[in-house]
Amino acid sequence: MSLIIVANRAPFRLTAEGLVPAVGGLATALLPVLEAQGGTWVAAAEWGEKGRTAHPRQSAIRLERVFLSEREWQGYYGGFSNRVLWPLCHYFLEKIELRREYFQDYLRVNRRFAEAVARIHRQGDTVFVQDYHLLLLPGLLREKIQGPLGFFFHIPWPSSGVFRILPWGRALVAGVLGADLVGFHTWEYAENFLRTAAYYGFPVEGNKVRVGERTVRVEAHPLGIDTHRFHELSQSPELGAHARSLRRLAGVDRLILGVDRLDYTKGIRERLLAYERFLQAYPHWRGRVAFFQIATPSRTQVAAYRELKRQVDEVVGRILGSFLREDWVPLRYFYQTYTQEELSAFYRAADVALITPLRDGMNLVALEYAYTSSEGVLVLSNLAGAAEHLKEALLVNPYDLDGMAAALDRALRMPYGERQERLLALKARIQALDAQSWADRFLSSLEAG
Ligand code: ADP
Ligand code: G6P
Repeated sequence: MSLIIVANRAPFRLTAEGLVPAVGGLATALLPVLEAQGGTWVAAAEWGEKGRTAHPRQSAIRLERVFLSEREWQGYYGGFSNRVLWPLCHYFLEKIELRREYFQDYLRVNRRFAEAVARIHRQGDTVFVQDYHLLLLPGLLREKIQGPLGFFFHIPWPSSGVFRILPWGRALVAGVLGADLVGFHTWEYAENFLRTAAYYGFPVEGNKVRVGERTVRVEAHPLGIDTHRFHELSQSPELGAHARSLRRLAGVDRLILGVDRLDYTKGIRERLLAYERFLQAYPHWRGRVAFFQIATPSRTQVAAYRELKRQVDEVVGRILGSFLREDWVPLRYFYQTYTQEELSAFYRAADVALITPLRDGMNLVALEYAYTSSEGVLVLSNLAGAAEHLKEALLVNPYDLDGMAAALDRALRMPYGERQERLLALKARIQALDAQSWADRFLSSLEAG
């Protein structure tokens, strides 16, 4: 009896430096879970990866790849997943590109996944399917295997009125309902899903959906970070030294930090505009603060992401053009991927983290920062799933530039005692959301059902 995790992304990427953990909330959270209990991870191999055997070092994990043609990969991942479902679920309706071919490739690839899982599945195994790339998979698997089948959706499930934009909405919901237990980060997303299921004619009672003879349970299971790992990182002497060197680089009293994949849902452009507004409205901070924005390249084959990069480059250039002085660099923009060790040093060095997505399923960066920081302030978007759980952060509306500028000023002036009080409360909440206990809770609920 073992665990089979199925996700589009493998938990590792093969780079020139060898195997490195994949970037993104799903992989960061689930890898330690599977490492701890062993099992198989089934993931797509991007087109072009063929022949390469990207296999994790950890012997406890078996990695199964689903090899796709270029056409399949482009239609399923670049197309239906990232040009349709991602913008739809994050309420970026103008970015949706509805094309029938994308859905056909999505269906074909979900079938390929179903075949791959059915091949390795043994009686008694638990299958745990992840995220928006594989909405049809639980339904397809239900026809092929028996045994516990869970599904977790890592991004917001939108209101049913928005979901109905999809011509294939019913098929997608029916696909999800192939699972025995469906999980979301928050009750808001779970309720949106239940209303969507009811709209498509599935009988809903409380948090249960009837599908023929079966009952599907829908629950909220907020996912956190690997707290053990971040605690270890935060204790290392190298981290302290690296954090001090980052502060020397900043060369100012106060350091502000942003860390994201370069994605239009993350509100990076709006955050930079808010920083510009802050420097205009609170001129006494000029020369005394620096903002480090880290953005890791993401989904660069999708036009909306390339356009975002252009827009962000432009605002960065404008801010530097207006405020840069010989003795002060107000903003540094790092367009690159870091290791967890390096990111933790940035977290430790920063006085304030500005985590202001326009919409986000959870946002693990917010948790990583609050857990690693020793005296910082977390400024968090009220449109991130994490805001439902991290009540002691300074919550802001990421569309309100003036409000964000004011919150930044408040965060920078916050007295030590208040910062400590908020951080301690946040750390306790993050401890309770630990990724391993998330998996334990979800899987025990699945098996108990
Ligand atoms: P998403 O899953 O949408 O990317 P999250 O904030 O939930 O957003 O998760 C992002 C994960 O990716 C975090 O674990 C974070 O540490 C990691 N990450 C983000 N930016 C970088 C970066 N520049 N380099 C390395 N890891 C990053
Ligand atoms: C979000 C999604 C994940 C995805 C990650 C990185 O966290 O919920 O499913 O893996 O972003 O995006 P990518 O497209 O690079 O896998």
